[in-house]
Order: sequence, then structure tokens, then C-alpha cells
Amino acid sequence: MLGMGRAGIKRSHCPDFYSTYHHLRSDSASAMTSKQVPHFQAENPMKSAQLFMTKGTGAMSYAENSNWHAMCMEKIWPTVLELVDSMKLPDDDMSIITIADLGCAPGRNTINNVETVLKRVKERYRNGHIPEFQAFFQDLYDTDFNTLFQLFKNSVATIAENVPETLKYFPAGVPGSFYGRVFPRSSVHFVMSTFALHWISKVPSSVLDKTSEDYNGGKIEHERASRATIDAYARQGDVDLRNFLDARVEEMATGGLMLLVFGVRKVYYPYCNTMVNEVKERIWDELVSEGKVDSGLRGSFNNFMHFHYLKDVEQILNSYSEKLIVEKEYVFPFFLYPQNMTAREKAARHASLNRGLYTSMLEDHFGEDITNLYIARYEQALLEGFESGTLTEDETNTYQFVAIVARKL
Ligand SMILES: C[S@@+](CC[C@H](N)C(=O)[O-])C[C@H]1O[C@@H](n2cnc3c(N)ncnc32)[C@H](O)[C@@H]1O
Repeated sequence: MLGMGRAGIKRSHCPDFYSTYHHLRSDSASAMTSKQVPHFQAENPMKSAQLFMTKGTGAMSYAENSNWHAMCMEKIWPTVLELVDSMKLPDDDMSIITIADLGCAPGRNTINNVETVLKRVKERYRNGHIPEFQAFFQDLYDTDFNTLFQLFKNSVATIAENVPETLKYFPAGVPGSFYGRVFPRSSVHFVMSTFALHWISKVPSSVLDKTSEDYNGGKIEHERASRATIDAYARQGDVDLRNFLDARVEEMATGGLMLLVFGVRKVYYPYCNTMVNEVKERIWDELVSEGKVDSGLRGSFNNFMHFHYLKDVEQILNSYSEKLIVEKEYVFPFFLYPQNMTAREKAARHASLNRGLYTSMLEDHFGEDITNLYIARYEQALLEGFESGTLTEDETNTYQFVAIVARKL
């Protein structure tokens, strides 16, 4: 068991994660694509959209475009599984052991993640009675659970008759928001959430309020956002993270483990310096000045993917030190393409990532024609920028990911 002090967070910039980074930089152009449709809640006066990964199993689907997440997880697992070995488990024969994945999305990743934990826990029962296992796959109401459930047909470890006892488990889908309670109290032994907690629950209402200093009118991304706007997002992010932790503290069994992997930034303000996002804003500027997009419509649209400021995350976790002990914390870089990619490949990768993340949300707000026009111009501008050398990526000052393993006291 890796015993740690109560309140202290152990951060390690793990060498493994840097090798992940180099490994991933040589990954194929399609690896980063996922389609996420952020959820505009009632605060948005003009439109409402839902957050869900691209449905189905087609070329743009989340199921087919999430191997980047899986590769990151491969590097994380060895350490997490060591901690799983030290997880407190029920010792009576009739117990049921529960694993939950929050923000699971309709893809293979969640099944692989759950089964990785399941297999490791079952190893502890090799010489005795094996308890029954249930696994909960949790995501927002509009998630394509049908596609997810179809994937279980090919899963080795569900309750099918030909599956050995050592792999069986009972899967179930759980719709709802992980920013509130989704399970009964003290019922979950291992809970994880990977690449999901950087979607905050809503765009802060003040960001959409023209009378507020937080108003982010005329901007969509956070690059040009004022300090007041970023503060508003950060406040919402902090509230969400606390709501998430409050719910998990209730739901986790004592001695249980929680694995969280999500986006963070290391500079509080300016939010980050991604030139490609600035290109996006420039294209929206053009579309407005050409009269193709109404400025009010653009003003009412804000990204609600918010990468938390790492120090805020650590501070919040520290405030839970009576209930949760952080066993491990790793930070690893976010990146978009291997260095040896051509300008065209880089442009295609960015455009494809952008399509995967935002197409449905943009279509919902601006319509299909404007969305197609915007994406085509974006890809063209990136191509020209990369070819001329005017566009570069400063990866050291952009996004990162953090992986945190915490134990319920
Ligand atoms: C990028 S996907 C990650 C999926 C999967 N965990 C993986 O690692 O491949 C993020 C997921 O988080 C879900 N999500 C975002 N906000 C959520 C919330 N408040 N409650 C539950 N799920 C949420 C999204 O619907 C999406 O399926």
C-alpha cells in the first residue's frame, strides 16, 4: 500500500507521462477527434443545446475517435492499479463490489477502463469466493447509451454464459449529471472520471449578461476574454468541482478509491495562449463583419469547456482532507500533433478536433451552413498559417491534464 500523509498532495511529473507525451506526438492525425456538444442551460437566452459525444459508430463518432484518451490511460494504469491493490474491500461473501465511470461516453474506452479495474480487483479473490461485481456507466441524459450498450455484445467480461467467473460483472447505465448525487450513499468502491471534469455545468449567467463586467460578448473562446470573464468561469468551475467532490464523498465506500483525469491550465490569466483559438475568433469576426452572422447571436454563444487552474484544484482538494486523501497527482501535457507533421496534416488535425468537439453545438446555435463555412475557413486559415510559419503552438503555455487518485477516509 502506498500510504500518504493526510492532507498533502503528492504531485509527480511522472516520467511515464512524458513518455506518453512523446509516444502520442507520433500518433495518427485522427487520434484526437471526439465530438462533444456542450450543454447550454437556461442561462443562454437565445439557444439551448445539450452536451453529448457524437452518437453512433460512424467516422465522426466518439466511439471511433477517442483513442487518444485510451493511450493516455495506458500510461496511468500501472500506478493506479497499484493503489487498487490497496483498496479496502468488503470481506463478507455476500458483498457486491461496485465500480463506476462518470462521464463514460459511448465508446470502448469506458468499458476498457472499468474492466481494467475489475480484473485487478478480482485477482485479489483468486483463492477464495469471488464476490459479485456491478459496473455503472454514467453520463448525461442525452448520451447515446444505445451505442454504448451495443458495445457490451463484444465485451469479454459481462454476464454472458461463456465468460469465466473471474471476468463477469453486471453493467448498467446511469443517466444524470455527476455534479450531483447519482448513486446511493457509501455504495461505490472505485469511482473514476476521465477527460470529463473540464466541462463545467453551465456558462455562468454573468458571462451572458450585457450589463455585467463578466460579459464575454463578441468572443467565443477564452483567449480574448477579460479577467472578469475568466474569474466568472473559474468561480463556476470551483463550484462544480466542489459539488462533484461533495457527491462522491457521500457515494464512496470508506477506503474506496477515486481516479480523476481532466484538463487544467498552469497559468491563471491570460487563460492560455493558443494561436489556433485566436484564429477561430478572427473567423467569427470576419463572418460578423461580412453580415453572415448576427453579432448578437455570436455574443450569446460561449464555450463552456473550462480547463481548471491547477492551483485552484489543489486548494479545493486540500479542503477535503478530512474526507479524501490524495494519493497521487500527475500532470501531463496536452498537445495536438507530432512535430514532423506537414502543415496540411496539422491543419486537418486541428479542424477535425474542432469538428469533433463542436459541430453539433455550432449547428444548434448558428445553423448548418454557417457551421460548415466556419469550419472550412478555419481549416484554410490554419493551413495558410502553418505553411507561412505565422502560426505556431506554444505548448508550454497551453493546456495540461491532471490525473489524481484519492482515497475515501
Ligand atoms: C471526452 S468524454 C470522455 C469519455 C470517457 N470518459 C473517455 O475517457 O473516453 C467526456 C464525457 O463527459 C460527459 N459529461 C460532461 N459533463 C457531464 C456531467 N455533468 N455529468 C455526466 N457526464 C458529463 C460528456 O457527456 C462526455 O461523454
